[in-house]
Amino acid sequence: MKKIFIYLLPTIGCFIVGASASLFQRSALAEWYPLLEKTVLTPPNMVFPIVWCALYICIGLSLSLILAKPERHRLIAALWGVQLLLNFLWSVLFFYARNPLAGLLDILLLDAAVVAYICVSYPVRKVSAWLFAPYLLWLVLATYMNGYVYCNNPDTVSLKNHTVMTHEMPKLPYAADALAPAMSKETIDYHYGKHLQTYIDNLNKLIAGTPYAEMTLDEIVKSSDGAIFNNAAQTWNHTFFFDTLTPAQKAMPEKLATLLTKEFGSVESFQEQFGKAALGLFGSGWVWLAADKQGKLHIEAMPNAGNPLTKSMKPLLTLDVWEHAYYIDYRNRRADFVKAFWSLVDWDKVAARV
Ligand SMILES: [Fe+2]
Repeated sequence: MKKIFIYLLPTIGCFIVGASASLFQRSALAEWYPLLEKTVLTPPNMVFPIVWCALYICIGLSLSLILAKPERHRLIAALWGVQLLLNFLWSVLFFYARNPLAGLLDILLLDAAVVAYICVSYPVRKVSAWLFAPYLLWLVLATYMNGYVYCNNPDTVSLKNHTVMTHEMPKLPYAADALAPAMSKETIDYHYGKHLQTYIDNLNKLIAGTPYAEMTLDEIVKSSDGAIFNNAAQTWNHTFFFDTLTPAQKAMPEKLATLLTKEFGSVESFQEQFGKAALGLFGSGWVWLAADKQGKLHIEAMPNAGNPLTKSMKPLLTLDVWEHAYYIDYRNRRADFVKAFWSLVDWDKVAARV
């Protein structure tokens, strides 16, 4: 009976630790882990419980063989306990705290504890040491996977209790009918009131329970793709677009006029090139005036939800050339919309961004 107890106890201990760890992993595996950029060596999720079950049997049996010997080997048993504790702690740090750096530090300590266990148990019982060999191989792979996640997901390192952001409709700096006739109240009602509202609603739904819920809009635009990027960038772009319009246009500040002249020949030439880019953009998209890291100004025609932040550029001015931006007032006449746009630009705001 005592012998059965000795053989079963370590293995049961391993499985209790494994089952407890899986509770800490559960929500992260559903929400956070799938979004991480992982190495191609990462096995499918279903492989993990199978491997761990096999490893826990080996780990448990390894200590059982030591305990079955008449001599007491407290150091070996202590090392075994330490490695199991570090193993459990890794699940807490990586999956519960969602902190790959802390997980990496923990798994390095775990590697050291396992190597120490192998070295100390080998002279006492070789089989016990060999039973830890598959575990060590798996930990080497796990260390690489954890390190890869840490290096490639700097924006997703987050603790559970960070502030969750809800994106809200920006306030218009003018009345809905103030831009008429260049941009009618009906256009504002639909474009701002319905299209932008839909992008913001979709964004909040899509990011709920993901690491993006803890990021600023800028961070989401820079780091996301697919549906989250589309809705985040459309939120960013429309907010910026509507904020840069004014019903009371003032003359362009000298500073901006000088920069545009230096880059494009003259302000008129800039407007001509910007307009050409707007008319030449096939389908839906945005035309931007943006500054690169050296401060050089560029006209960028970007399809769909394109945004210069993704090219590490600073947006200064944008024009929405999606059909929903002008169809009510100008039908299919995009050129007329571009012409009207120049009478609405708040040049003071554009100049302040340079
Ligand atoms: Fe739009």
